Amino acid sequence: MQNQAQIGGNTLPELAQTFQQIFHTNPRICQAPGRVNLIGEHTDYNDGFVMPAAIGFYTRVAIAPRNDRKLVLHSVNFAEQVEFDLDALPTHGRQHWSDYVIGTANTLLQAGIALTGANLLIAGNVPLNSGLSSSAALEVATGFSLWELTGQEVDRTKLAQLCQQAENEFVGARVGIMDQFISCHGQENHALRLDCRSLEFELLPLPPNVHLVICNTMVKHSIADGKYNERRAECEEGVRLLSQYLPEIQALRDVSEAQFEQHFSKDWSERIRRRCRHVITENARVLQASAALEQGNLATFGQLMIESHRSLMKDYKVSSSELDVMVDEALKVEGVYGARMTGGGFGGCTINLVKAENVENFAQTIATRYERVTKIQPEIYVCTAADGASRIV
Ligand code: GLA
Repeated sequence: MQNQAQIGGNTLPELAQTFQQIFHTNPRICQAPGRVNLIGEHTDYNDGFVMPAAIGFYTRVAIAPRNDRKLVLHSVNFAEQVEFDLDALPTHGRQHWSDYVIGTANTLLQAGIALTGANLLIAGNVPLNSGLSSSAALEVATGFSLWELTGQEVDRTKLAQLCQQAENEFVGARVGIMDQFISCHGQENHALRLDCRSLEFELLPLPPNVHLVICNTMVKHSIADGKYNERRAECEEGVRLLSQYLPEIQALRDVSEAQFEQHFSKDWSERIRRRCRHVITENARVLQASAALEQGNLATFGQLMIESHRSLMKDYKVSSSELDVMVDEALKVEGVYGARMTGGGFGGCTINLVKAENVENFAQTIATRYERVTKIQPEIYVCTAADGASRIV
């Protein structure tokens, strides 16, 4: 079994020391977490509901101001340093790790945040391409530290929006707001239910007798490829078709299950029908899951996670054979309330809600069984919900 503290990265004093060696000043240090989504997948860009939690994997940024207008970025993970001129930032990404930082600096500047030149040393331990939002953690950590350096108070919701905009426009991935929002607003021991249209949210306490166990299939997930944007386009097509009968709708969020059954025509594409059905039923599941959590009804919560996975697998078609094995095997282990893929899909991780007393056995058993079936050694992370972005030094 592995937990977040054992995964790579620098300790805080090491990060400060490395910064000193490279830039010859003392830094302040900020961090932003990755996330796991408990339920509500592929609903955020349909103006719907999601329920993520921040996890104890972080991107950390050691930062100090410069006297000129340069942004100097040094990545510990990529062992590379790059420089930019704040007054002549590129306007498009070039498929490089620095895209997430420069895209965010761009949107902050456009929003009128008076950034100054700065040296940044960046180190992270959020597993990459695993569906745990390493990209959002990088955007939010750098955005938070650059904003904080101006001396102004960071507006967390605004920061989440600007980071999402950077990923949409600069990196070219049309992601929703979920990952950036939870990285900004997460709270220890709480999940967060977010209305992705109004951005109203509620922090929901997670009971102490369960753990969030993340199982990494070790099959890399990437949403920068076309599949994610393709799903978005399919949802938009669904809205276009349905609005012939329901002219008031703006997004799939506005369509109830009953309206969908009544109006979706048999002559329309089966593929679009299934994509819409997933989103519409998933939105309903988030609201039911949130009520179940408030009532302490973990059995119902777990059942909704399982239904969510089946819907993502059959209707939205974003699961993978490895994710399905991980979920099926998990559900056979004692103490598991629910299991499902988490994040964009096509590989990456599952999230499992497991009774505290069974966690150790679960982690060992699932690792053995997954490896027996797939011949791939997984990583298992036993997590608790963590706080969102903050300055820590
Ligand atoms: C990725 C995106 C999120 C969300 C999920 C799917 O993580 O970044 O905005 O759409 O996929 O729920």
